[in-house]
Amino acid sequence: MHVSLKRILFTAIALSSCCALPTVPPEEAVRTGLNDRFLDESLVVDDWVARFEVESREVALQRDAIVAALELNDGENVADVGAGTGLFLKPFSRAVGAGGRVFPVEISPRFVDHLRQRSQDESLGNVQVTHCSETDSGLQAETVDAVFICDTYHHFTYPMTTLSSLHRAIRSGGRLYLVDFERIPGVSSEWLLGHVRADKATFRAEIEAAGFTFEEELEVGLEENYMLRFRR
Ligand SMILES: C[S@@+](CC[C@H](N)C(=O)[O-])C[C@H]1O[C@@H](n2cnc3c(N)ncnc32)[C@H](O)[C@@H]1O
Repeated sequence: MHVSLKRILFTAIALSSCCALPTVPPEEAVRTGLNDRFLDESLVVDDWVARFEVESREVALQRDAIVAALELNDGENVADVGAGTGLFLKPFSRAVGAGGRVFPVEISPRFVDHLRQRSQDESLGNVQVTHCSETDSGLQAETVDAVFICDTYHHFTYPMTTLSSLHRAIRSGGRLYLVDFERIPGVSSEWLLGHVRADKATFRAEIEAAGFTFEEELEVGLEENYMLRFRR
């Protein structure tokens, strides 16, 4: 072998063994325990339907305005990350039509069963439920036009890892919508200050750090919550 070629090969082998790219350490959990009740196999779904799908809950009361703000088009694919009992299942299914897809994404096994049964009972043929993990949305790369995260972002145990998996799943130019609680010390209740780990500005900065561009805050009649739109 030519001597300089030998030298190049030797250098390449030496570099690959001693200077391998550093592996990125896994993200540390920002909170623990917040999802235990959802992961519990003995969860009673009806109890949660009664909590999530009542008009005394602001996002349920303003559901139509929230869905309209997503400006979903016929044929689009939308993912509802942390879909819970399926408050948004039917309106999303109608909004994207037979040519579109709704992907409710859940970590809770009982909610997954319920969402599957509910889409069957309500004849929502364009719904595909995904049972995800706390680190991966389970969505295929570049398959969705819009991701909706309602009252769930503050439940993410690994927000940056989850966001990176959502970034992969959203097509270029697609949207991400965040609905979460206003968290204002001195204004918000003690319960809320303990339950929601950070405020709107912090969540916005995290989502921007994951590669999304903030576009605007949407006016949908919310007072205790806010709704933000980002672009991939
Ligand atoms: C407060 S509930 C909100 C449910 C629904 N979005 C609604 O507004 O009615 C939060 C939901 O997020 C789910 N969840 C928590 N972490 C999640 C994650 N990393 N990926 C998907 N779902 C998650 C929980 O199982 C729970 O159903």
